Amino acid sequence: PIRRITAPQIRARKGGEPIVSLTSYHAHTAAIVDKYADFILVGDSLGMVMHGMDSTIGVPLDLMIMHGKAVVRGTQAALIVVDMPFGTYEESPQMAFRHAAKIMKETACGAVKLEGGARMAETIRFLSERGIPVMAHIGLTPQSVNTMGGFKVQGRDEAAWQTHIDDAIAVAEAGAFALVVEGVVEELADRITAAVDIPTIGIGASKNCDGQILVLEDMLGLNPRVPKFVKIYGDLGPAIERAVSAYAEEVKDRSFPTSDNVYK
Ligand code: KIV
Ligand code: NA
Repeated sequence: PIRRITAPQIRARKGGEPIVSLTSYHAHTAAIVDKYADFILVGDSLGMVMHGMDSTIGVPLDLMIMHGKAVVRGTQAALIVVDMPFGTYEESPQMAFRHAAKIMKETACGAVKLEGGARMAETIRFLSERGIPVMAHIGLTPQSVNTMGGFKVQGRDEAAWQTHIDDAIAVAEAGAFALVVEGVVEELADRITAAVDIPTIGIGASKNCDGQILVLEDMLGLNPRVPKFVKIYGDLGPAIERAVSAYAEEVKDRSFPTSDNVYK
């Protein structure tokens, strides 16, 4: 069996060949992504994408574990990173360890991701010193939607830049192996990338990040309301609609199933 890419191997890619990543929540799509991605994120965006929630706040731990298992089963090469959902890690390093260990034991993923900068540094150190590789996530952190007052691009005001740079340095010094930088103005993303010795993974950030990530369903054209930072690489929405409407017609006029599709 092919050995998977490891968290230390991702960390070692700082300043090197760009790191390729997408989200996946689903065995069959993960198997395709696995051929091209260095790591696959089982993001808590699955609450919105798979389950129609308005935000990621309501995503339960068990749902992350269920989709994490599906993606691990469907893949063999990429590092699998599973998001820690809101409410499972913020309270204390001990609480975070308990839930991160549960995610790792039940899914066999290779790392977890959590949101927050300096305030999460102690927790990142606690986990990574105890066998759990942690990917950090700063900038626009969707689990803070209620305190941010919406999904807002960060760093439009240059006065806030130093706080974000300090967050990046804090998580890197605490032992995070990589850092997602989401929804920040381009020059701030570049400053963050220059300030830390771990790879930055950009989403709505900058081409100069050490890697990029997108939500798979967004880049496949399945999300009717994609943000500006998403580039649509495949128009699956209309393709699925054509297939479903053709099937509906053929069921109604009894041209499906044909003799090829039944057992004699
Ligand atoms: O949940 C998610 O999909 C994410 C990525 C967008 C980074 O956290
Ligand atoms: Na997420």
